Amino acid sequence: MELNRRTVIAGAAAAGIAATTLGGTAHASGGSTPVKKLFGTLADGTKVHLWSLANGGTRLKVLSYGGIVQSLEIPDRHGRYRNVSLGFDTIEEYVAGSPYFGALIGRYGNRIGKGRFTLDGTAHQIDVNDGENTLHGGARGFDKRVWDVEPFTKGSDVGLYLHYTSVDGEMGYPGTLKVKVTYTLTRQGDWRIDYEATTDKATVVNLTSHVYWNLAGEASGSVYDHELEIAASRYTPVDSGLIPTGELAKVAGTPFDFRRAKTVGEDIRVAHQQLLYGQGFDHNWVLDKGVTAKPVPVATLRDPSSGRTLRIATTEPGLQFYSGNFLEGTLVGSGGTVYRQGDALCLETQHFPDSPNKPSFPSTVLRPGQTYRTTTVHSFGR
Ligand code: GLA
Repeated sequence: MELNRRTVIAGAAAAGIAATTLGGTAHASGGSTPVKKLFGTLADGTKVHLWSLANGGTRLKVLSYGGIVQSLEIPDRHGRYRNVSLGFDTIEEYVAGSPYFGALIGRYGNRIGKGRFTLDGTAHQIDVNDGENTLHGGARGFDKRVWDVEPFTKGSDVGLYLHYTSVDGEMGYPGTLKVKVTYTLTRQGDWRIDYEATTDKATVVNLTSHVYWNLAGEASGSVYDHELEIAASRYTPVDSGLIPTGELAKVAGTPFDFRRAKTVGEDIRVAHQQLLYGQGFDHNWVLDKGVTAKPVPVATLRDPSSGRTLRIATTEPGLQFYSGNFLEGTLVGSGGTVYRQGDALCLETQHFPDSPNKPSFPSTVLRPGQTYRTTTVHSFGR
């Protein structure tokens, strides 16, 4: 039996194919072939799978539902692994009401004012799901869709291709949008996300990932003692509905200045109108580097207690830093404890919120014949 197994592995390796059926087979690179198992079944009978993959000291679990990162484990300075992302144990909990835990967000990350925009002279009304505005694509965004998932191994990388086709008119958006997201774990343990999309009619697109980070470990309490640095001299102030006013305001002399690392909690209780609107930080930082062809480092998050660090590099011009303000003690997470305000934070690389209504912001328009391409890399240290 043992001999057979080895022979099969050697055969698969020689043929250069992923030995998916062999269950977590370790590669010479340290990566392991993605393994698929049943996670649950949706009300309509659709099966949802959980994919597990590992490489370079990072262990990732991904659901076919929403492309959700259900768990992401990394070691601390002593080599102790913890899941550093908030999530649930069952598909029922994700369906019943997840605040986008770990999910892929589309077609449009963050808000579009009143769910309205005009493109090439045509007015579009999209699904409104956040007061009078649209948030994260509408009531059934990409976070609530089942994606086709295909594993790969490429050199020392392992990963998943996630495909979803959003039909013309879905949630009110024009054009059939074909989306491909690639999750790669590199031999260094980086988690890289490559987003691609094409359309058959002019439309708007802004894809992101909504992982809730707590580098001390999911269910370990507040992240207010995490140190955060963001390479941005400006941010986009919002109105009371969290729609950008259009202004690019300087962070200097405000609680929004993270150009030098400071703790998340240091200024979170400062009496500042923008913090009242967001009930904490829930804003888009205007990254100094702008749109870039290659990912450029833009943010570092560090938990002094465990030593775990997260570095984010992106091609995108914006970063939504959300300090977990709407976690209200109503959800029990995968660790079996209740999540409360500030138990995690999100760092969503993106184009700016409400860009379709703000001509001065970098454009989010995608036209037939063009390919939408953005990349974000998460690197971990300790
Ligand atoms: C984003 C938004 C927040 C909130 C969270 C999810 O970060 O900016 O206002 O909607 O997603 O709860």
